[in-house]
Amino acid sequence: MIDALLPRARREIAPGAVHVPDWLPPERQREIVDACRQWASGPAPMRHVKLPTGNQMSVQMVCVGWQWQPYKYTRTADDVGGARVADFPEWLAELGRAALVDAYRDPRAGDDYQPDVALVNFYDAAAKMGMHQDKDERSSAPVVSLSVGDNCVFRFGNTQNRNRPFVDVELTSGDLFVFGGPSRFAYHGVLKTLPGTAPAGCGLNDGRLNITMRVTGME
Ligand code: SIN
Ligand code: MN
Repeated sequence: MIDALLPRARREIAPGAVHVPDWLPPERQREIVDACRQWASGPAPMRHVKLPTGNQMSVQMVCVGWQWQPYKYTRTADDVGGARVADFPEWLAELGRAALVDAYRDPRAGDDYQPDVALVNFYDAAAKMGMHQDKDERSSAPVVSLSVGDNCVFRFGNTQNRNRPFVDVELTSGDLFVFGGPSRFAYHGVLKTLPGTAPAGCGLNDGRLNITMRVTGME
């Protein structure tokens, strides 16, 4: 019970994987939601990604910088109209560099970080994401993850398989999660969201938004 009253502390979940609660102030969360709404409306709009199995992902996704489709990156949204994907904005790259400095408590940690793609996932009350690795990038630079809206249960595992050891972390609105170094290719997923938990003032009434920014290593 007392836990709920104490500030949640920065925590290293595994080597190179760090959770920083409440990293984004509410105003920044709202700005991010506004930017995501713009990207979602097109010209490369938000969609449910189709998997090679024929199923579609339960999250809705819009991409910035490059379009991700299983399992590749392209400059055009070939699965949804073919328009060129929005440019990756400098303000988001700067946020990514600041995230690395704070997560790793190293003023130089962001120096060479030049993310060029963001996957923006929107989770409705029923959406989740199975355990997977982010491995379509040709770079081992860290992944920076920002969450806004409803809480979720995020499972962060190991680099070998989808099973134990893993740690379940509740991500809430404004939280930062970074995974790099030995954890860059760890399996992870979202078990469920917790509908109705989005705080007032975050910019989203319902659902959860997650941005992961990455370095593709592509030209
Ligand atoms: C992802 O793994 O791409 C998304 C993670 C999240 O929604 O927190
Ligand atoms: Mn992922």
